[in-house]
Amino acid sequence: MSEFDVEQIPRILVRWVHILAAIAAVGGLLFLRFVHLPAAQEALSEDARARLREEVMRRWRRLVNLGIALLFLTGVYNFLVIGIPKGKVAPYYHMLFGVKFLAAMGVFFIASALVGRSPTFAAMRERPSFWLTVNAALAVLLILISSTLRHIE
Ligand code: HEM
Repeated sequence: MSEFDVEQIPRILVRWVHILAAIAAVGGLLFLRFVHLPAAQEALSEDARARLREEVMRRWRRLVNLGIALLFLTGVYNFLVIGIPKGKVAPYYHMLFGVKFLAAMGVFFIASALVGRSPTFAAMRERPSFWLTVNAALAVLLILISSTLRHIE
């Protein structure tokens, strides 16, 4: 283990933001899919469900937008500062990172389509269980890849 150096502080702070944003976004996604959606389906009439969904989405939309912005900006920083140097030593790092990047773009796209209001993606919003399940699976893949990348030296 190398000695601690003050120059590492920005990298640690950015990592904190990246990991906290990932925890909040993925935790919220899993809660929506496996707790909120089935509970609302079980307990509420169609009208009440539609009203609740409107309110939940209004709030969740802000978190999704903030989460995407933070994950993207801190992710690019991580890649420049941590990823590129590691990729020079272990070229398969970049292959795994490429899969992670594509999976992240997929997660961002599905999350944006579900919280958005564009008529183009209305068909996706009509099948929330399916698309939240796809997104939850991609999010788990992302976490697995990210924690593998961390251990590539
Ligand atoms: C939903 C989106 C994302 C999730 C859930 C996520 C999750 C994570 C997590 C949990 C880590 C920390 C791994 C650890 O320290 O054990 C990490 C690291 C990292 N993330 Fe992300 N991330 C996301 C998006 C992105 C994006 C969009 C980029 C790039 C543009 C990115 C680039 C990186 C890099 C380069 C690392 C450092 C890997 C290493 O230690 O070698 N991430 N990510």
